[in-house]
Amino acid sequence: MVFSNILETIGKTPLVRLNKVVSHIPATVYAKIEAFNPGLSAKDRIALHMIERAERLGKLKPGGTVVDATSGNTGFSLAMVCAIKGYRCVLTVTSKISEDKLNNLRAMGAEVVLCPQDVKPDDPRSYYRRAEQLSKDIPGAYYVNQNFNPENGEAHYLSTGPEIWEQTQGRVTWIIGSASTGGTLCGSARYLREQNPDIRVVAVDAYGSVLKKYHETGVYDEQEVYPYRIEGTGKNIIPANVDFEMINRFVKVTDQDSAIKARAIARTEGILAGYSSGATLQCLEQIKHELTEQDVVVLIFADHGCKYVSKVFNDEWMQAQGFLDTEVPVMADLPGVGV
Ligand SMILES: Cc1ncc(COP(=O)(O)O)c(C=O)c1O
Repeated sequence: MVFSNILETIGKTPLVRLNKVVSHIPATVYAKIEAFNPGLSAKDRIALHMIERAERLGKLKPGGTVVDATSGNTGFSLAMVCAIKGYRCVLTVTSKISEDKLNNLRAMGAEVVLCPQDVKPDDPRSYYRRAEQLSKDIPGAYYVNQNFNPENGEAHYLSTGPEIWEQTQGRVTWIIGSASTGGTLCGSARYLREQNPDIRVVAVDAYGSVLKKYHETGVYDEQEVYPYRIEGTGKNIIPANVDFEMINRFVKVTDQDSAIKARAIARTEGILAGYSSGATLQCLEQIKHELTEQDVVVLIFADHGCKYVSKVFNDEWMQAQGFLDTEVPVMADLPGVGV
């Protein structure tokens, strides 16, 4: 198959059955492998859709600048779209971003503005406020605003949801995905629920995020916010793209469990998926008692594990977090390498 540019390869990602890693779970479990997108994550879908919608509405003109606050994946996808379409791309990120992701953004030609992680969302230094301000300061800039831009969820309503429905031939009964902006899970779920209102939708949240408590109580509790490691799961604001009505419930998972699951996916299924993919598998583990053999579960594996080789897939990093029980063997400890 031949494409006229890389953007035409976005979407139509495979749905792959998980086997050994879920052999103790009484359901058929599939992973929607979004790493097959050219930018290695689900965010390619929204980047292309949001930019093309802005073009159609005249909000983004030739020679313009695209600005957003992004934990990395959306930024990479925006930079990719900008490279093809000839826009300048300015991204604000928090200091939590991995070195790998930062270098990837720069490789794609994005201008990256590093912002402190531990400031309140309405602080002028926060990556949200900095992006908003930059979009006012730069002439011809378009602030994508992925958290509040309805085209984020719409992109998944138009593509990811229909793909899952077709790939499961309408047999899907559960969908589980990390919620950050909420676009991936809620947009997909909206389409799927229109086909079958009984589909259960579970959002994965992190300890250190406000989303679960807000869903359960309607209260934005600042006390829920503290630093955590999983990227692309949870939030310290309430994004408009989290459609709370679409979600049956939120399940919190720990940084450690999610990291260990991401490693297990690689070693048992041969799928190098990202940290939040480990979080979705951990969520499945925590709700497995609710499943039956008739259930067909789709986990959204949002990005590629190569983005975390210096973190989750690095033994020293895991050890430094206290996530690995055993000492990392040094060369001399390995069988047959004694000194
Ligand atoms: C790795 C990863 N997983 C999951 C998500 C969650 O997707 P969404 O923002 O659509 O809720 C994101 C988004 O930031 C992400 O980067």
